[in-house]
Formats: sequence, C-alpha cells, structure tokens
Amino acid sequence: MQLQIAPSLLAADFLHLEKDVEMLNSAADVIHLDIMDGTLVPNISFGFSVLDPLSAVAAIPMDAHLMVVHPERWFDKLHQDGVQMVSFHYEAAGRHSASFIDKLHSLGIKAGLAINPDVPVKKLFPFIGKADYFLIMSVFAGFGGQKFIYESLDRIALLREEIDRRGAEATIEVDGGVNLDNIAALKQAGANLIVAGSTVFRSENPAATIAALRNV
Ligand code: DX5
Ligand code: ZN
Repeated sequence: MQLQIAPSLLAADFLHLEKDVEMLNSAADVIHLDIMDGTLVPNISFGFSVLDPLSAVAAIPMDAHLMVVHPERWFDKLHQDGVQMVSFHYEAAGRHSASFIDKLHSLGIKAGLAINPDVPVKKLFPFIGKADYFLIMSVFAGFGGQKFIYESLDRIALLREEIDRRGAEATIEVDGGVNLDNIAALKQAGANLIVAGSTVFRSENPAATIAALRNV
C-alpha cells in the first residue's frame, strides 16, 4: 500500500498560507494542522482565526492534531469547519478517551488517539477497533524541526503487530522528524500516514518532495 503524506502546515509560510494550501491541494493527501495551547505542550500555534479561512480553500482532507487540554471543547467547531480527521492526546483525555472517540464518530469525524514518545504504546491497545487511527509522535509534541527518535520504529511495529493480531484495522500516523532517510523504515514498521513539516516546506520543491516521500 502506498503511503499517504500529510504535510504539517506549521512549517508553511504564514504570510502566504493560501499559496501553500493550493500547493498541498494538488500535491498532498491530507493537510496536517498542529493546534497547540501552550499548556499540554510548551508552545502555542494557531487556532480558528487561521483555520476558518483555511478550511474554505482546503480541497483535500484536513487532519487536526489537537495538542490541547480539553480537546473535546473544539470538536463541534472543527466539524463546522469540515475537518475530517481529529486526533487528541491520550495524555490530555485519559479515561475520557473512549467517549471522545464516540463523540467524534457521532459528528462523522475520523477519530485519532495520539501519544508522545514517553507514553507506553500499550496504552493504545484498548482503543484498537475503536479509534480510526493512532498518531505516534516520533518527537515530543510542541515544535517542528526536531530530530526523529529512532525508538519510534519499534513502537510503531508493536502497535501494528497488535492491530494485525486482533484482525482489526487502523491507520498508524507518524509525526515528527520524518525525512527521506527514515521514511522507508517507517513504512516497513507499519506506518501508513506520514506527517512531514520541515522536510516538505524547507525543500526547494515541496511538491516533488511530497511525491518522493510517497513513492518510497
Ligand atoms: C510537533 C507537530 C508536528 C511537527 C512536525 O508538535 O505535531 O506535526 O509540525 O514537524 P517536522 O516534520 O518538522 O518534525
Ligand atoms: Zn502534528
């Protein structure tokens, strides 16, 4: 199966966002939107003042990665903006994770459960067959341009093994430090939706880089 590429808008040119979204519309599979609140993670990114106008020009599915406490507060608003995939962190949702997944499903949104590199991947196992996708952070959430944590490969492989063992289906999304050197190993480990920020937007030809990542 071919990889799907979800460039992270965090690395885009915020003074010319429309131009970058148009490029993604024709070159990428999904637009990854990193939403941070400065509390769950040590950084603040953008919110609905960016997302609302952006949603009017996005022609491919939008994937909101909520790095916020109380992610559930924003599900309805994301739905109104036509966001098709929403992930929230297990660290933020804890025992509410299952009900948040149900809430997203009731809105017709694909539900993703995200974890940072220090959360045991086994914490995700109870949600296999429930969540549509799992977001394995391969850097600590908060900033683009960080170095890929290689142990993430084992975490992805372990999760993929358990999904397969149960005869279930789920997308594994990987996020952080992905580049042309590690993407083959990520595919091999069982990831199928790949987030890439700096690798795409810092390259000379972002559309060609997306194609190169996809065709690994
Ligand atoms: C980090 C974000 C990532 C980040 C990826 O908190 O979740 O999506 O933007 O950026 P790169 O690909 O540059 O590591
Ligand atoms: Zn992200």
